[in-house]
Amino acid sequence: MRSDILDPEGGETGVDSSLLDDVVLDDVGPEENDADGASPGLFDDLLEGEPIFENKEVLRPSYTPRKLPHREEQINSMATILVSALRGDTPSNILIYGKTGTGKTASAKFVSDELESTSQKYEVPCEVEYINCEVTDTQYRVLAQLANKFVDKNEAVIDERLEELTELRERAREDESVLGDTGFASVEVVTDHIESLRADREAFEQVPMTGWPTDRVYNTFFDAVDYHERVVVIMLDEIDKLVEKSGDDTLYNLSRINSELESSRVSIMGISNDLKFTDFLDPRVKSSLGEEEIVFPPYDATQLRDILRHRAEVAFEDGALTDDVIPLCAAFAAQEHGDARRALDLLRTAGELAERDGTDEVDENHVRKAQEKIELDRVVEVVRTLPTQSKLVLFAIIMLEKNGVHNINTGEVYNVYQSLCEEIDVDTLTQRRVTDLISELDMLGIVNAVVVSKGRYGRTKEISLSVPIEETEAVLTSDSRLSEIENTQPFVQTRFDS
Ligand SMILES: Nc1ncnc2c1ncn2[C@@H]1O[C@H](COP(=O)(O)OP(=O)(O)OP(=O)(O)O)[C@@H](O)[C@H]1O
Ligand SMILES: [Mg+2]
Repeated sequence: MRSDILDPEGGETGVDSSLLDDVVLDDVGPEENDADGASPGLFDDLLEGEPIFENKEVLRPSYTPRKLPHREEQINSMATILVSALRGDTPSNILIYGKTGTGKTASAKFVSDELESTSQKYEVPCEVEYINCEVTDTQYRVLAQLANKFVDKNEAVIDERLEELTELRERAREDESVLGDTGFASVEVVTDHIESLRADREAFEQVPMTGWPTDRVYNTFFDAVDYHERVVVIMLDEIDKLVEKSGDDTLYNLSRINSELESSRVSIMGISNDLKFTDFLDPRVKSSLGEEEIVFPPYDATQLRDILRHRAEVAFEDGALTDDVIPLCAAFAAQEHGDARRALDLLRTAGELAERDGTDEVDENHVRKAQEKIELDRVVEVVRTLPTQSKLVLFAIIMLEKNGVHNINTGEVYNVYQSLCEEIDVDTLTQRRVTDLISELDMLGIVNAVVVSKGRYGRTKEISLSVPIEETEAVLTSDSRLSEIENTQPFVQTRFDS
């Protein structure tokens, strides 16, 4: 979020305006510069006092912690299933479910690292491929990414082997007895083998980002995986996004691949925070994918406290947090729905706000401000991405509130909405559609619409804004279409006159 969109002046807003700035230095005014161009005080103030963070990275979402308290059970279940890969068998496919921020990705990455390192230790051919389907969201891309990974791996294996063999051949040329128990009868046999490996290497090609027919991509992937014996675990994170975007073909193909592979075996681990996505799957895919299911329940406040404590130890300087900071972050995030990501965001933001205050201690107030800031960021994002019609409806509600209209009803919103549509020349929806849009805004938590009984006049909706008015208006008018609305006063006036 950019502070200048919302409140360039830092003026009167419902919310502490200092919350609106991102924690960056670019909002320090140029007027503080000295004549000689130096800027005393620019960084000095910020550097003053003890630092709060020892290692802020630890609180960022990109950091994968080595310890995951309260996920032992889920991690053990995964390991119990995947251990067959280390015995050379095919593990059952696994489906992992759980709400956002319940540690699914972190646990899956942890398990995959352990699996790979153990397989190296015991020299068993087992590989894990992690794909985030939010980014890689079509069958073509998933298969291409897998194909290219395995092509790379095969090439690396071949190169290594070629080096060994070329060296062996050199030595054998001097003294053929070095071939002893290598299984090569003569220098010529070694040469033949080298030739055939070179041919294999030539035959592998990288799949381009687009352009090939899907079956060619699939075949390239197939040949690359099956090039030598191994067990491959494919982790498809945010698997629901893949199904939503491009159906279940990929999963269908992958779940049947083992019946055709000769040397290798593939097992799939799907991860989703949408519990219902399997409803959209072909029943065969559904049963194959869900051979094993592991549920990640939300964290409660006590568990979140443990998680935060572990991270805070590394992230903050000793004594930088007052005693109530972690419990409060945990309590806020537990209310949210037990989301560890939210808890960590709160803690980091609270630390950043304290840092900017120039204090060397994060306290309860910083957490409360952080909660407001994060909530406001969410609102800004939701409002910014609303469709134009919804923005107009919301704008109408804001106009009415700004003009002191309370207990706004749908008819009033509709009148102002109509004038706004005329003003910027967009189609006007029916009152019924506008009522639907108001309900949607209600569901998003942007407005509050309650049905009240007016006795013999029937029932009506009373609408009020549930988000800070100034900031929301600023986000709306930053939309180029709505910015054409110039003087809004007359629209509301029209309504009063009529
Ligand atoms: N038990 C835990 N211990 C320490 N950190 C955790 C734990 N669970 C989650 N986290 C942290 O919380 C954040 C969110 O976790 P993660 O990304 O694994 O959630 P997720 O379940 O994959 O959510 P989503 O469904 O939104 O992808 C990450 O920064 C992660 O490191
Ligand atoms: Mg995740």
